[in-house]
Amino acid sequence: MKNKLIKIIKIPRIEDDCYLCFAENNKHIPFKIKRIFYIGLPVLGLSRGKHAHRKNKQVLFCIQGKVRMVLDNGKDREEVILDRPETGLFLDKMVWHEMCDMDEKTILLVLASDFYDEKDYIRNYKKFLQVTNRK
Ligand code: TYD
Repeated sequence: MKNKLIKIIKIPRIEDDCYLCFAENNKHIPFKIKRIFYIGLPVLGLSRGKHAHRKNKQVLFCIQGKVRMVLDNGKDREEVILDRPETGLFLDKMVWHEMCDMDEKTILLVLASDFYDEKDYIRNYKKFLQVTNRK
């Protein structure tokens, strides 16, 4: 079955004495990057995320370790494991997402289309279902 929610973005990976990955606005990343953030040293067994964004779009790279990403649009629920630095996951606006099964080495690098704004978050799943009109 075709994935509706999982949109993988492959970026170049150059190999010489190490690897080097890169991404450019509008070429690999489908928006103008306004913000980056990264997440590391997770508490093992705890998932993060558990929210959706009203407008903000993101591309997420697991540049070390692994993460199981669970995506949900209020109707479909899909998941994917990210464990390669050249493999990005496009997270559209209004997609509920959870980061699970991170290991002690996991580092997630996130590129975002907007500046941080707490009002852009929907952190309550029931509210998310209401906003997506799929109660
Ligand atoms: P949050 O987005 O809830 O983290 P996660 O998606 O990993 O569960 O953010 C955690 C805290 O960090 C919260 O207090 C908001 C703050 N924060 C910023 O101030 N700026 C940012 O760009 C981000 C992503 C978070």
